[in-house]
Amino acid sequence: MLSDAADVIEPPQNATVIATGKGGVGKSTIAAHKAAYHAAQGERTLFICVTSQDDDDLGIERFHRGTHPDGPSVLNGQGLYRAIRDRKPLLPIREVRPNLDVVPGGEAVGELLTLLFARLPLEGVGVVLSLARALAPIAPWYDQIVFDSAPEQDSLEQLALAAARWLIVPTRSDNTSIRGMRRIARNYKLVRRDLNPHLWVAGACLYGSNPTATQLHAEVRDDVLKELGANTPILTTVVGYREMPAVNARKKGLTFGEYAALLPASAKSYDVAAGRAKRADVVPESILPLADEMDRLNREIDGHCRRASAS
Ligand SMILES: Nc1ncnc2c1ncn2[C@@H]1O[C@H](COP(=O)(O)OP(=O)(O)OP(=O)(O)O)[C@@H](O)[C@H]1O
Ligand SMILES: [Mg+2]
Repeated sequence: MLSDAADVIEPPQNATVIATGKGGVGKSTIAAHKAAYHAAQGERTLFICVTSQDDDDLGIERFHRGTHPDGPSVLNGQGLYRAIRDRKPLLPIREVRPNLDVVPGGEAVGELLTLLFARLPLEGVGVVLSLARALAPIAPWYDQIVFDSAPEQDSLEQLALAAARWLIVPTRSDNTSIRGMRRIARNYKLVRRDLNPHLWVAGACLYGSNPTATQLHAEVRDDVLKELGANTPILTTVVGYREMPAVNARKKGLTFGEYAALLPASAKSYDVAAGRAKRADVVPESILPLADEMDRLNREIDGHCRRASAS
């Protein structure tokens, strides 16, 4: 079966994908916070979820945030699916936060696999540029673009890698997470070689680990360099494992910083004991270090990308 050679689409200057081969390591949390971070700095930001699970970290669906485009729903991955199916520009949900537009993920994103596979005989490897093509017409509106990526799903991972300029690889410290990086390393090399020579690894970071376990972190860093290459920048900020505030913030559709801002007015454990409040109303104190670490991680990622762009 013959196909045309793929065109090259130069990705937008500040387009970053958060990806790693393994599920559940914190990709979506980091991606949503990176997008919110840039928007809070006053940069026009687009967050694109190339995932078949919608974590709704920003509370778009559950709390009706943002202005939806006219026409059929773009929730649950349908907007992303239709843009690629109909070869049309992406239609984001506007102003989910000031300066932040979002193309949500969800089940329909999984249906892209069948669609892309059906186009493969005629379009060849160029199908992997489908997302880059749907993004190109609206990309100039944005200062920053952040992609969340799907776990253990090569084709979806490649779609996002083909549309981005920077790759950030988070990992946990366990062996399966480290081995999972082989998948992203392989996809990174393939996409860079065949479709997107502008793609670079901006850095790898340890996520959801005890920040004081420095010996363990040094070992993990060695493993990361083995899997991703000796020149991979390793970020120094480690976001700690703090399940309760992380899970509660997601349930409320708030970023860690937004959730931390509720702490001063929050009910306390003694209010729960006295029957004046429910446990769910208590904002845990541990949200403060979590919000601070996430903020530091974002500043470090941003600094790496800016230095790398300038060099
Ligand atoms: N710092 C943290 N400490 C503890 N738990 C966290 C932390 N950050 C996020 N979590 C929780 O860990 C789980 C996995 O996080 P997340 O969904 O971001 O990972 P993921 O890599 O995107 O997963 P998937 O591969 O399923 O898409 C979620 O329940 C999330 O709320
Ligand atoms: Mg995810």
